[in-house]
Amino acid sequence: MARLVIVSNRVPPLRESGAAAGGLTVALQEAVKRRELLWFGWSGESSDSKEPRMSSAGNTTHALLDLTTAEHRLYYSGFCNGMLWPLLHYRFGLAQFRRTEEEAWRAVNRRFAEALIPLLREDDTIWIHDFHLFPLAAILRELGAKQRIGFFLHVPFPPPAVFAALPRAEALLKDLAAIDLIGVQTDEDARHLAEAMQQQGVDTPVGVFPVGIHAEGFARIAEAAVGRKDGIRFQESLSGRRLIFGVDRLDYSKGLPQRLAGYADLLKRFPQHRGKVTFLQVAPISRGEVSHYRMLRRELDEMVGRINGEFAEVDWVPLRWTTRPVQRRTLAGFLRITRVALVTPLRDGMNLVAKEFVAAQPPEDPGVLILSRFAGAAHELEGAVKVNPNDPDEIAEALDLALTMPLAERKARWRQDFDRLVEAGPSGWSRAFLADLNRAEFAAPG
Ligand code: G6P
Repeated sequence: MARLVIVSNRVPPLRESGAAAGGLTVALQEAVKRRELLWFGWSGESSDSKEPRMSSAGNTTHALLDLTTAEHRLYYSGFCNGMLWPLLHYRFGLAQFRRTEEEAWRAVNRRFAEALIPLLREDDTIWIHDFHLFPLAAILRELGAKQRIGFFLHVPFPPPAVFAALPRAEALLKDLAAIDLIGVQTDEDARHLAEAMQQQGVDTPVGVFPVGIHAEGFARIAEAAVGRKDGIRFQESLSGRRLIFGVDRLDYSKGLPQRLAGYADLLKRFPQHRGKVTFLQVAPISRGEVSHYRMLRRELDEMVGRINGEFAEVDWVPLRWTTRPVQRRTLAGFLRITRVALVTPLRDGMNLVAKEFVAAQPPEDPGVLILSRFAGAAHELEGAVKVNPNDPDEIAEALDLALTMPLAERKARWRQDFDRLVEAGPSGWSRAFLADLNRAEFAAPG
């Protein structure tokens, strides 16, 4: 089979074991098990070095570029995370446009393309990932690339009228004409993107390919993690209280202030749960160079202090809060013993934690997922209790419902979702995308 070339801003470390790898890595690894793979992207480092660093393990080769500190600031923190991220998550009010940042973003995409071109073979299939690299395919074509090029957007795409607020949105949309197939997470994203492109006369096909997980593999990891030392220690620390759990990057798209307010409302309006539950929110710091992220952290630190100050007993801390990263395997163990998972983003492309929670549950006594209507996963996980994440009162009511839900109902809701995840299979997502890309009409020039 011909080689697959993956391009993404972040590249997971080589030789990461399946147990520790993140969602995208696992999904892709399953797809390319028997296929040669070149993964090209940012090294995660800043330096002035211009050449990609190459390394290989098994059938995978990595080619990683450093960014200069200026590129990191203007391209990554500036245009990608200060402008595109809020815009794509329907939060134009938080977006900040600066022309120098947009230019740096295009220049970094050009640098990626120029470094990638000499590494390409004629029969490669190229698969570009996410919003950082919207213009890459167009630049590759300009430099002569004739290979098939697919693109997957992991985040939402807002209604065209919202997207149009981006200065020079037309140029970005026209660049997408160089792509043979675009994949998105939901029907809604596909509709919005296709409509926005049509307004510019671009008719690149858009398909819906919801990212999945390896549900049975994750279930095994979660089950094993409970018996490990840190799993046992954590469970003992709960003193028999039911665990409410959330884990998200510390990002304003995740609805964390509303979620904490919802928990406080539960303790206020449904006092019967006081002392009987513990809410652990893990929120590893993310994109700390961007000011809105720093402001959010301060707001949350203060809320946590206030909620604990108001409701804690000398022998009960209602809310446990950490902004430190927790190992994926440890998280899998936490998910398994969770009675209620809170996944309440204001907008999310998919949200794999929702799927991992379902996968991690013990079939004989499964917990309940409280899931935002505005997460991509809500289109698939029909057994979840759906909420509007903007309303803390609704979150409090959903928590009360979940904490008092009879076993038979919990089982029925969970079974439906678990079976669906297993049916999709560990490599269903990438296999389906690559098969459609292979069939797509070719946009390559000449
Ligand atoms: C989202 C995006 C990814 C991104 C990840 C982590 O899931 O879709 O492209 O890699 O967030 O964000 P970071 O800025 O740390 O790469």
